[in-house]
Amino acid sequence: MCGIVGYIGKNKANQILINGLLKLEYRGYDSAGIAVIEDKNIICKKDIGRVSNLYKLEGINDLTGTIGIAHTRWATHGKPSKINAHPHLDAFNTFAVVHNGIIENYNELKEDLISKGYKFYTQTDSEVIPNLISYYYKEEKDLLKAVNRACKDLKGSYAIEVISKEEPDKIVVARKDSPMVIGIADDEKFIASDIPAVLEYTKDFYLLADGQFVELTRDSIKFYDENLNEVENKIETIEWSETASSKCGYEDYMLKEIYEQPKAIRETIGSRLNENEKCQFDDIEIDKEYLKSITQIRIVACGTAMYAGLVAKNTFEKLLSINTEVEVASEFRYRDPLIDQRTLAIFVSQSGETADTIAALKLAKKKGCKTISISNVLGSSITREADYTIYTHAGPEIAVASTKAYTSQVVLLELLAIYFAEVLEKDSEEVKTLKRDILELPKKVEDTFKVADEIKELAKQIYEQKDVFFIGRGIDYTTTREAALKLKEISYIHADAYQAGELKHGPIALIENGITVIGIISDKKLLKKSVSNLQEVITRGANVVVVTDKNLSKYNFKKVIKVPETNRLISPILTVIPLQLLAYYVAKEKKLDVDKPRNLAKSVTVE
Ligand code: AGP
Ligand code: GLU
Repeated sequence: MCGIVGYIGKNKANQILINGLLKLEYRGYDSAGIAVIEDKNIICKKDIGRVSNLYKLEGINDLTGTIGIAHTRWATHGKPSKINAHPHLDAFNTFAVVHNGIIENYNELKEDLISKGYKFYTQTDSEVIPNLISYYYKEEKDLLKAVNRACKDLKGSYAIEVISKEEPDKIVVARKDSPMVIGIADDEKFIASDIPAVLEYTKDFYLLADGQFVELTRDSIKFYDENLNEVENKIETIEWSETASSKCGYEDYMLKEIYEQPKAIRETIGSRLNENEKCQFDDIEIDKEYLKSITQIRIVACGTAMYAGLVAKNTFEKLLSINTEVEVASEFRYRDPLIDQRTLAIFVSQSGETADTIAALKLAKKKGCKTISISNVLGSSITREADYTIYTHAGPEIAVASTKAYTSQVVLLELLAIYFAEVLEKDSEEVKTLKRDILELPKKVEDTFKVADEIKELAKQIYEQKDVFFIGRGIDYTTTREAALKLKEISYIHADAYQAGELKHGPIALIENGITVIGIISDKKLLKKSVSNLQEVITRGANVVVVTDKNLSKYNFKKVIKVPETNRLISPILTVIPLQLLAYYVAKEKKLDVDKPRNLAKSVTVE
């Protein structure tokens, strides 16, 4: 989690660092700080709370230094407080470090350093890093070497930036299992956890490999492997425009991203799908023989990305007749799953940095599976681990609650299922229809936005509720899971999702007068069954809202939200939209910070 920014160049660092942090605040926002080299000294300014609080810190605007590091924190060790905020200095105020990740063996290291005379002031795991560097610097007298030696002692994950008054004209950077990129412009270098932080200054980036060390001065940049052998790295030019990561007049990123879905889906389809041609995936080499040899497909991910997998499971099984299971990465990685070289394993991650998903992928590889990663971020960690990577082209997703990434992931997984069906020469009428229906999706998503005003009204009616239940059957159940997650994560209302048929086995005991139950109905075959389950909760006093693409007028439901009709297999892409909007407007009614909900962060780089 957390956002890191660094700058070395000819301009004042303070503003560039704070600007970058503001753009990375979605990664963590309980405290923030910067450290700048000022007349060969380190000046550190930090505080609890949001990045914008930094502007209030005395003297921060007067800093003139042109080298600096910065951090916005998502605390793992030690509560959010001024003292625990990064940057952290060593006991002799010679080295300053910002750290993203977790140092698992910090207790041992701390005790050892204390026995060597080092003093500690914070409760963080990170504070051992500047002290270790200080310890090794005494021997090495070289910042890069001291950082490298310190990293050899660390167990866990880290992306770090280090500055020192001993070598005041450089920044040293290292990463292991936490993301970091370096942007390059004339005589200037920008370090960041994520590209959008510095996209206003450059589009040329080095993406750091795991285990790499970098030494930056104003006019040089050198990359090293973990044994400090110099290595090559190549510049990637990023095509995202700067406006892609700004709010463009919307009140919140989440609302902007909801409305970007037609574009995100269109770009994810891109040239991969044309109605009368076979589906194309240039980036993967999977042939008929291999697909015939596999006995199962596993889709592994966390949160919303996992729910995208649940939708696609239906299509994989329908088109390929291959058993497809979907699993939460944090469980999969620890439970010795029954997988082998006859398993194709697909890992879905918007950020490409989710620690559990990456660990699950590594496990699948170890067990002999072929692996495909689906990510929205070019060169992200997961893409470096997988055998093949395919990208959603949703553009940067900044709001913590995922919207456009989810619908783009569903679309991409659907395309992948179609591609496999065509490779297997199972191109049935069903495949043809699905292709046509996917191509019509962007327009249908636009039409779905017509319900926005109705949803705003509905939000006013339910924002004071304590619990909301979502029910559905079959493919609609997958949408209830995503809808419930969206509502709880940004409105803090307790929301649960149930298979409508399961209500009688327990959950119906929770239904009482005035409670809101939202039913989703898009599966024609299961329509009557779902209607009956909704009648049962109405009888017990629930206020029912139905989201559907069918004509339900004869059932006299009090509130029906109608979306355009589409293929059952992709209906979740349309039925989820009113529910994304509902979560958004409920949170707005409650005057909550929609983009940065409490306790959460966009990129979950720790397990
Ligand atoms: C979505 O609204 C959530 N904030 C969260 O569940 C997210 O989808 C999950 O953490 C996975 O993230 P990833 O796609 O970047 O791996
Ligand atoms: N583990 C560190 C801390 O709690 C870093 C957390 C982060 O990545 O923000 O300070």
